[in-house]
Amino acid sequence: MFTNAIKWLGLGIITSYIIASSKQQVTLTSLSEKPFDLYPPDFYPNGTDLQLPSGTMRYWQFGNEAGSKVVLVHGITTGSSVYDKLARDLADKGHHVLVYDIWGRGYSQAPATNYDEALYTSQLAMLLQKVGWDRTDVVGVSLGGGIATSFTAFYPEVVNKLVLIAPAGLMKRKDMPLIFKVLTFPFVHHFVMNQPYIRPLLINAIERFSKTTRLVQSGLDEDTEATIAKITKIATYQFVNHAGFFRAFLGTVVRFPFTELRERYKKVGLQDRPVLMIWGDQDTTVPFDNSQEAQQLMPNAKLIVHEDKGHDVLITLWRTVNQEIEEFLTSK
Ligand SMILES: *[C@@H]1O[C@H](CO)[C@@H](O)[C@H](O)[C@H]1NC(C)=O
Repeated sequence: MFTNAIKWLGLGIITSYIIASSKQQVTLTSLSEKPFDLYPPDFYPNGTDLQLPSGTMRYWQFGNEAGSKVVLVHGITTGSSVYDKLARDLADKGHHVLVYDIWGRGYSQAPATNYDEALYTSQLAMLLQKVGWDRTDVVGVSLGGGIATSFTAFYPEVVNKLVLIAPAGLMKRKDMPLIFKVLTFPFVHHFVMNQPYIRPLLINAIERFSKTTRLVQSGLDEDTEATIAKITKIATYQFVNHAGFFRAFLGTVVRFPFTELRERYKKVGLQDRPVLMIWGDQDTTVPFDNSQEAQQLMPNAKLIVHEDKGHDVLITLWRTVNQEIEEFLTSK
């Protein structure tokens, strides 16, 4: 690992002069250029392309317009397809559901910018302002959990209830996936961003990372297996066909505070609001032991632990998890 990193570093320094001249500063297009039949623009009902200062993003608003509002924030690789089961379930149960693709995933473009906390948190703020929601429940998974927590810390008046599924932000440096460690080495990020021949290698590494988020499990029913297969295909399709995915993924790895959101969790913990956390005890992507610190920072949060489940608990155990979330959102 160490010698490997040194090699990358060396290559990065040698070619650093190329970087200044080859930096792309344009917004990259979304999947709208190459839609995927498993994840078409109308994957959910009532989709809208929204133009914002950073670029064009897509959201879907459906369910019961008079029902209680809930917005769902997805993670680093899948796009909003990860909410295939939960979003539709909540809509069927009478909630007014808002799902969207974060910058550089699915049908949202990839602006040439820093993929940091401010970018993602302000995207959610701008979206809610556009749809005119001044109070809503918020659900986030993984990276989306980090975004949801940050959003709640800055916009406490907007968030009613908060649900965090294996949320990022409290990770330890040593627990970061290998690809994250390599990319955050000085120069490496700029180097791989600007050298097209490195892309296939990196896409391969992203694919491997994405596989590590899934726990191999037996005994899943057909519907669940099919959903896992579908979401996996959608993610893989994006790696190759979303013009801006690569920039957004790499940029997020380098700039998002996966290990540094303590202050936000603490702030949310001091606010008076019901918080539910859901975690698989075999999660190694956002390690399960992060839940301990999350509980220390948010003493009033309720934690539901699923035994023998990994980072993908939202999909592998969707019936149970959907029900837990529904019950939490509707309870007084
Ligand atoms: C469909 O989307 C439009 C635009 O966001 C919104 O005004 C309308 O309320 C949505 N319909 C439902 C059922 O959510």
